[in-house]
Amino acid sequence: MEDVSQLVAKQYEAFAYPAPFTNLAEQVSKGYQQIGDPALYAPVLWPRGRPRRPLRILVAGCGTVQAACIAYTNPKDDVVAFDVSEASLAHERLLQERHGLSNLRLFRGDLLEAGSLGQSFDVIFCTGVLHHLGDPTAGLAALQSILAADGVMVLMIYGQTVRTGVYMLQDAFRRIGIRQSAEGVTQVRRILAELPSRHFAQDYVRAADELKHDEAIVDTFLHPQDRAYTVPQVMELVDGAGLAFQNWLDNFPYWRNGAWGPDTAIAAAVDPLPPKEHWAAVEMLRQSAGYHAFTSRHRTADLATVDFDSDEWSNFVPHRAPGLSRSGQGQFKRGHYELRCSEIEQFVIDGADGERTICEIIEVPALEEIPRDERNEFARRYFEHLWKLGHVMIALP
Ligand SMILES: C[S@@+](CC[C@H](N)C(=O)[O-])C[C@H]1O[C@@H](n2cnc3c(N)ncnc32)[C@H](O)[C@@H]1O
Repeated sequence: MEDVSQLVAKQYEAFAYPAPFTNLAEQVSKGYQQIGDPALYAPVLWPRGRPRRPLRILVAGCGTVQAACIAYTNPKDDVVAFDVSEASLAHERLLQERHGLSNLRLFRGDLLEAGSLGQSFDVIFCTGVLHHLGDPTAGLAALQSILAADGVMVLMIYGQTVRTGVYMLQDAFRRIGIRQSAEGVTQVRRILAELPSRHFAQDYVRAADELKHDEAIVDTFLHPQDRAYTVPQVMELVDGAGLAFQNWLDNFPYWRNGAWGPDTAIAAAVDPLPPKEHWAAVEMLRQSAGYHAFTSRHRTADLATVDFDSDEWSNFVPHRAPGLSRSGQGQFKRGHYELRCSEIEQFVIDGADGERTICEIIEVPALEEIPRDERNEFARRYFEHLWKLGHVMIALP
């Protein structure tokens, strides 16, 4: 009997993931991005500024495109990446050659042995990997040992609520004996088409566009090893590896205001809770996080927290989040999230250019008619609202 980690490695040789593409420039120009990419998310990674340039970036368990993409979008930084799957690395190499990525070094390796790399990194990416290890905490601890003192980890692990139905199907498919093969994929597709409309997996299946690819069917439904996390379990994982949680890469699923207004029973119940309890309760009330993407740092690092009730708020520098764009008069969109706003709200969103402080954005002739106190309170609360929706990122003074 093969050990589970061998089965996992074998799966990614036969069904390298994600489904690869061959032209990074084209994909990036269409908005393709890696969550946590320093070129896009620097204010989330380092709210008080980057520690150094060039950055030393590690991509642990890079899959087919992630390492090449990060090297492409961060050409002045040095990227090292590894994976257990030779098939995945072969595709990364293809992209490397095609786009002349001389800042990327790729090699075959196991995450559990990352500690032996003999080098430390300013950014460590590990997305979609830890939940496939027999001991995710040991994997994260191995990465912790090579994180620079002021470095940051970009992590992504599955979220439990949205995947409940996926685990029911994994269980059924295991009992039926469906194999990781072309026939197995066909059988899964046929069964999915016959599921009752009230099945717990239906929402997931409808939303997961990637399921058109065979690799994603195998990765989602026929995986020999994966587990998912609730918000408190995310905190336990981070703590167990000797690290500290810093922030979510996208706040949207975790704060109440993404789903319920201030005059609701839910607002009255969850708003008084401290942040970690608030996020945990919202996750259970909303079932909105199919995965958790977040950053983590050493416990000794300067963990900067964004607090709009602090005196610092007027010196915060808001950046529009990657992908937030105007979709009409008084309308913005970011992925499938939509935002409607009044004229003055639109004015301040347009002002979030990543250069000016909140104070500078609102100290303009266009807003002079609004009394100063009123203007300040509006800007403070509206930027807090946008930040909790994940539509702006905040750099701290
Ligand atoms: C779901 S894919 C994610 C790929 C990539 N990180 C991304 O986000 O697109 C998981 C990857 O982790 C790799 N992997 C699994 N276990 C590993 C281990 N112990 N060490 C290194 N890589 C591993 C697999 O080969 C696969 O390429």
